[in-house]
Amino acid sequence: MPTYAADYAASLADPAGFWAGQAARLAWYHDPPRPVLSQDEGTGFYRWFRGGRLNTSWLCLDFHVANGRADQPALHYDSPVTGTRRSYTYAELLDLTARLAGGLRAQGVEQGDRVLIYMPNMPEAVVAMLACARLGAVHSVVFGGFAPPELAVRIDDALPRAIICASAGMEFDRVIPYLPLVQQALALATHQPACVVVSQRDFCPAELPETRPAAGLAGPRFVNYGHLLEAAPVAAVPVDATAPLYILYTSGTTGRPKGVVREHGGHAVALRYSMGAVFGLQPGDTVFTGSDIGWAVGHSYIVYGPLLLGATAVLLEGKPVRTPDAGTFWRLAAEYGASVLFTAPTAIRAIRKEDPEGLLARRYDLSKLRHLFLAGERCDPATYAWAGELLGVPVVDHWWQTESGWPMLATCVGYPDAPAPLAGSAGHRVPGYDLQILDEAGEPVPAGTTGLVALRLPLPPGCLPTLWNDDSRFQQAYLETFPGYYLSGDGGYCDEQGYCYIMGRVDDVINVAGHRMSTGELEEILAAHPAVAECAVLGLYDELRGQVPVGLVVLKDGQTLPETELEQQLIRLVRDKVGAVACFRRAAVVARLPKTRSGKILRKTLRQLADGEEFTLPSTIDDPAILDEIRAVLYRREMLRTAGDSPV
Ligand code: COA
Ligand code: AMP
Repeated sequence: MPTYAADYAASLADPAGFWAGQAARLAWYHDPPRPVLSQDEGTGFYRWFRGGRLNTSWLCLDFHVANGRADQPALHYDSPVTGTRRSYTYAELLDLTARLAGGLRAQGVEQGDRVLIYMPNMPEAVVAMLACARLGAVHSVVFGGFAPPELAVRIDDALPRAIICASAGMEFDRVIPYLPLVQQALALATHQPACVVVSQRDFCPAELPETRPAAGLAGPRFVNYGHLLEAAPVAAVPVDATAPLYILYTSGTTGRPKGVVREHGGHAVALRYSMGAVFGLQPGDTVFTGSDIGWAVGHSYIVYGPLLLGATAVLLEGKPVRTPDAGTFWRLAAEYGASVLFTAPTAIRAIRKEDPEGLLARRYDLSKLRHLFLAGERCDPATYAWAGELLGVPVVDHWWQTESGWPMLATCVGYPDAPAPLAGSAGHRVPGYDLQILDEAGEPVPAGTTGLVALRLPLPPGCLPTLWNDDSRFQQAYLETFPGYYLSGDGGYCDEQGYCYIMGRVDDVINVAGHRMSTGELEEILAAHPAVAECAVLGLYDELRGQVPVGLVVLKDGQTLPETELEQQLIRLVRDKVGAVACFRRAAVVARLPKTRSGKILRKTLRQLADGEEFTLPSTIDDPAILDEIRAVLYRREMLRTAGDSPV
């Protein structure tokens, strides 16, 4: 049995050799994929397994059906919000996927085409992802909480041939019709897909607009998802390992999201490896990931990871709380016999808030549970300790990003010599990741010193090879600052024992309930309000969500709009432009914003001030008195954090 120490060393000493070994565990159309690691001419970007041929959907479904897992459950769908439960065996999931792929092909979707998916956590969404992969089409799932303008930006960037959406979603007991949101997005977008496929939901079916040929109208055809399933099943299309499997948009530091690209080959190899090495799972095990398929965590550990392994995935449509109570996660883990439960610390904080004694967990038999994995944001020690005591299993905090697609720091519980997890630390370097802490000059710092978290190139398989249609942004955003490194955007440190600690973003990205938001984007929206002269959006400490965005706005001369009215208008603006998921609920009017002498707003200082952190007054500050003014406004608006706010 390999050890963590040996595998970590091997993965750095000979990346191509190490990953060739992992690749050999998958069924390729032509063995072995060569060259294992290469660089693109021109850009120099690293590529894994160029020349290899495979199909991710085939590996997730056909392979298992052909190898004794046809009758094993592949997916348990549990939807307390709609009162539905359904289970699908590998054979059933394959059948649905192959038929939907046939239906999509009949609508003109072919290899290389993009398909945008806008659906809540429902099996039809999983089937849609797998059907795209089967055709070699590139899916791009957009999280349901995003508003039409966000959808439109993604439509105009990915240029999808088809959009697949649900007729509606359910937020707690609130029905959210999705089709009108798609139609609003199409009205905003320049690009129009050939068709919109609608998965009808019993609780809110959508009336489909007249189709284009019949009406002689410009714009897409609208077709029922169920109609597509009537097609004959189609076989998986062999694709190049470097062909894109999906694009997943994530917040950057500007209003334009970044289209993270994931390739078939590296992704399959990395996820298959991580299921065993990081999560300690075996084929046949059950995994419950409490996330949304619209996020990277959902892509990797609700859908692809479990299915590539031959495990059983649990898909929850609902929240950790109030659907119907704070015991939902424990019920699902118990009823489906999950070995691993994976979610964000926010979800645990939400459960703890409603059920501080953990009484609901005691109602269920969680004896099969081996580990609780937490990621998506920094896990505070109090939440870590509470979950560990309640469940009696190791809690594994681990760190990754949409860009990596799988963990970069973790306790790799699949290895016999994995060091014990430690509260506050996101664990050790995962094999494949040469993580370094750098100073501002790009030099590695000694153990224990905080700096910029960077990864020495090449990144391992599975990580983004570039951004969709934007090599130069990829270069500029991640690679340019320190040649030879990928810059993560996080700050942190590692100690002498190799435990690493991620302390938070060093850029204008904030983390709201495990969701990534760009303060730059929110500022662009606030600044567009006619009364606003300038503004700063800060991610302030929030007991439940970790951070929430708060706007500080300076009014234009002569503006007399009352603060409360302006605040309501700004909240509505962000809801309409970004979506409810931004959780923008507070804005305060200030007379001035603190700036450097060159005119840059001191956002970090403002956040530190509001969060009650100690800070040194920047030597470049224009007028230190502004900070006192702002402190007074924050105090009046109850936005100042005091020591008593801390759950720690
Ligand atoms: N579709 C439409 N609206 C959505 C949505 C979706 N898929 N997801 C969230 N929203 C809305 C919510 O209804 C809420 O709207 P409101 O302002 O009208 O109340 C708003 O967006 C904010 O959502 P959220 O911050 O999620 O708050 P919440 O009260 O609905 O739930 C938690 C709080 C903690 C339970 C929830 O955030 C959660 O489960 N977090 C887990 C984090 C997670 O899965 N992270 C993924 C990475 S692991
Ligand atoms: P996303 O791309 O949406 O998954 O967000 C990635 C960001 O979430 C990272 O850059 C970190 O800032 C944060 N993050 C994810 N996991 C952790 C963790 N375990 N500890 C601290 N921060 C985390």
